[in-house]
Amino acid sequence: MVALSKIALLAAAAHAAVIQRDAPAGPKIRQTGNGQNVVTWDQYSFYVNGGRVMIYSGEVHPFRNPVQDLHLDILQKIKALGFNAVSIYVHWGIVEYERGKFNWDGVFDLQPFFDAAKAAGLWVIARPGPYINAESAGGGLPGWGARVEGQWRNSNPNYTAAWQAYIDSVGKIIAKNQITKGGPVILAQPENEYSGFMEPDGSLNPNEDTEYERLLLEAFDNAGIEVPTVCNDAWIGGHFTSVDVYGYDNYPAGFNCQDPLSWPDPPDYFYASHKDVAPNTPNAILEFQGGSFDSWGGYGFEQCYKLIGPEMVRVYNKNTYASATHLLNIYMIYGGTNWGHLSNPGGYSSYDYAAAIAEDRTLREKYYELKLQANFLAVSPAYLTSAPVDVQRFPTAGSNITITELLDQVGGTQRFYIVRQTKPAETTDSAFSVDIETSIGKKTVPQLGSAQYVLPAHDSKIIVTDYPAGDVHVLYSTLEIMTWKVIDGRTVILLYANTGESGEIAIRTGTAYKVDVRRGKASTVTSKRTSMVLTLQVVVGHETVVALGEDILLYVVDRVNAYNFWVPDVNLKQELPVIIKGGYLLRTAAFSGNTLSLTGDTNRTTVFEIIAPKKAQAYTWNGARLDTSLTRHGTQEGRYRTRTPRVDIPDLARLKWKYIDSLPEVSGSYDDSKWVTADHTYTHNKIKPTTPVILYASDYGFHSGNILWRGHFTAAGGETTFNLTIQGGNAFAYSVWDGDEYLGSFRGAPAPSAHNGSYMLAGPWKPGSSHVITILQDHMGLEQNWFGGEENFKSFRGLSDYSFGGATPMLKHWKVTGNLGGEKFADWARGGYNEGGLYAVRKGFHLPGLDDSKWDSKSPLKGINGPGIEFYRTTFTLNVPNGVDYPMSIDFGSRTNKSLRVEIYVNGWQFGKYTDDIGPQTSFPVPQGILNYKGENTLALSLWSLEEGGAALATIDLVVRSEVEGGVGSVRNSPGPSYTARAGSY
Ligand code: GAL
Repeated sequence: MVALSKIALLAAAAHAAVIQRDAPAGPKIRQTGNGQNVVTWDQYSFYVNGGRVMIYSGEVHPFRNPVQDLHLDILQKIKALGFNAVSIYVHWGIVEYERGKFNWDGVFDLQPFFDAAKAAGLWVIARPGPYINAESAGGGLPGWGARVEGQWRNSNPNYTAAWQAYIDSVGKIIAKNQITKGGPVILAQPENEYSGFMEPDGSLNPNEDTEYERLLLEAFDNAGIEVPTVCNDAWIGGHFTSVDVYGYDNYPAGFNCQDPLSWPDPPDYFYASHKDVAPNTPNAILEFQGGSFDSWGGYGFEQCYKLIGPEMVRVYNKNTYASATHLLNIYMIYGGTNWGHLSNPGGYSSYDYAAAIAEDRTLREKYYELKLQANFLAVSPAYLTSAPVDVQRFPTAGSNITITELLDQVGGTQRFYIVRQTKPAETTDSAFSVDIETSIGKKTVPQLGSAQYVLPAHDSKIIVTDYPAGDVHVLYSTLEIMTWKVIDGRTVILLYANTGESGEIAIRTGTAYKVDVRRGKASTVTSKRTSMVLTLQVVVGHETVVALGEDILLYVVDRVNAYNFWVPDVNLKQELPVIIKGGYLLRTAAFSGNTLSLTGDTNRTTVFEIIAPKKAQAYTWNGARLDTSLTRHGTQEGRYRTRTPRVDIPDLARLKWKYIDSLPEVSGSYDDSKWVTADHTYTHNKIKPTTPVILYASDYGFHSGNILWRGHFTAAGGETTFNLTIQGGNAFAYSVWDGDEYLGSFRGAPAPSAHNGSYMLAGPWKPGSSHVITILQDHMGLEQNWFGGEENFKSFRGLSDYSFGGATPMLKHWKVTGNLGGEKFADWARGGYNEGGLYAVRKGFHLPGLDDSKWDSKSPLKGINGPGIEFYRTTFTLNVPNGVDYPMSIDFGSRTNKSLRVEIYVNGWQFGKYTDDIGPQTSFPVPQGILNYKGENTLALSLWSLEEGGAALATIDLVVRSEVEGGVGSVRNSPGPSYTARAGSY
């Protein structure tokens, strides 16, 4: 999450737009390191293997998807957008949960991700931190950092000693996956948003710690990283410019999911500021808004999607092209899940992010909009050397249009005009015309028909001039280009607009082509020919196909139909000159002999159209022969009937559920002697408590889930109340007992992260009597640490103060527990964050394979009678056939506004934390691989009632969220041990 103070800093970074022209310069290679020359750059763009590239990338966090076999699914979906890269963060705190001991095994191994990226044909931008932010626990910093004195994210030697082993460890993994070693990694980013800085006393410091930056770059070098380094400044503030290529982030639509049309005005373009800060490197946006986070008590991602949907992609992404952005990484393209307590307190289990690819891996409309844009840029190489040269306004009555003109600085002729509403939040359509420069002089478009175009609200368009599509010279096009291909010598151009709009394409040619409408209504096409130019105007319907002799085939389609087209190889080398229409997703296309083999996903009966060279004689879809017939314009069409068989989904509410009490700690006989004794008298935390011993969980190695405290006292006599100041992070709750008497709870609310409570004891204490105060609290995740030098991630979870009213007892000792073993956690396969401190979880009862036959039967819909914790288990089997992708979720239906907190464990993996009265999340996607799709599953739930009257779930369902045929192929279950009795557990 972005700190408030960051927003203030952003506002202060306003800048004036100045138009500049570039002087050409030769490509640069990495400034330090081993002098590799595979990834280079000049002031316009990167080059990979000597060729200029637009790096169009999407952010994915491998740590938010613990099923290695699903990475390829997500990465193929990103590749199918026309993107060529993926960017990743690595979360230090997960892999070095215990200081000095790295967990790169099983689901934490990065190698399967790198291999999948390579298999999908994507490059990787590796961003290992040490700090990442990412709405993640500690922003990536490890929990044990709470016991490291002093400031973090600067050159404090204690901090340096803390991160060096990690950067060495992750750096070597990245290094061996570099493109120079045959791997996919092309760029590496130390730190993240190293942009705001703090003094030890908390005051802001305008200067970054350049020694820290130097140490990080040196550590990258020492680990063998030789690809260019990049940074991600929080705005174009000129921080961390010692990297090879300066970059910055931008979230122009804001995060106001409450008010989905609150779009702020974007700057005309960032180009001038980019030129001020980094004139010799490409304009690189390392994070560009691809969705939004949401917090406890928030609005849910479907609501956020209204703010950050396809319209946002049209308006704001195109505005970044107007700034000649040549590295663009969409944050997030796939968000994933904060499974196993991976969130910071600002977020809940879902990190869907309202991204183009939803948490359950289904595709949103935004995905298809991005595909149109990324495909266009991939076949428009002049964009890579273009820069903005002019901004036109079109201020006529009722219309308010901004048009940015880009000119190719190297070729000197091609132009791109990016047309948008001046105010993105505008709700009325605006009429406009554009003055364009072409190789045959200035023109005002439209040229044919009506005098003006209409730009709908929340829309933006790109008009091109002197645009080469193979050998075809497009003089201009006001229809947007999705792609073009030269297929057997004929140029196929795919053009689109909104239904009912008219647009023009003018081709500079001496040939007197006959305009032959092969599909669609001939009456929607008007043409005008001069000796040099053929201009066509088309009123856009579903699909119009126009042949111009044997040389040119134009598809003019409406936007929704344009979504149906896939270009399996956007490479301009025309190695695979194929365009496919149809299907939910096209994953791969390849020739084997004369057979064109296609793989992908369908969700309904699909008529494929295959636009391919004549060499293709036969076609297969997912291995099955596709019968096709010839169309009037020389392409092939074939119908495919999708099969999505019904599967038996168990009714979770009717299963046999077993349960136990999971709060034995409040029974009189409970023995906590195996718990950690909280006896420290010094904390490295800047906030020094008033308590006689330190009661901060991280000081004792507990960083996630529930924390339990037990204070043992001998009464002075007459104690009547227990008062405390306790902190757990936003939306946290806690309950307090005196012996086995329940004293009360703080139910929590979205914002408060701390609470002062006062509770009546169970009758005045008798002199000399022994008492145990038990406190069960939530740990909502470690805070982030946005400012360099800040120590916010050390924010304590526990008590900073307590007292008694009436009299003051004598403290015997305090005991604390969180997850079993703390930093020496019990479950290496699922990682340190997966478990919290509840009794049943400490015992491993959330794991599959436990014999719970002696437990009593009760359904979580019956629930718990009073305050406390119960732990429920059930099993069920699934048998989902191969060849389909049926993502599922566990849904709790409507909330009852009871103070009930539930943790969901699926086959031992914590895949959801539900707060009935705070919300908003009620549906918890659980991926295949965590759910066993071919056999038995164990579902366990902890129910924590903070109500005297108890609480129960209203409904519980296993829901199939989408049914497609196809999918990524076999998905193995993530390796995780079954239950065995845990030695030393308590
Ligand atoms: C950025 C940050 C990311 C993430 C994002 C909001 O400022 O670099 O890590 O926190 O904000 O989702």
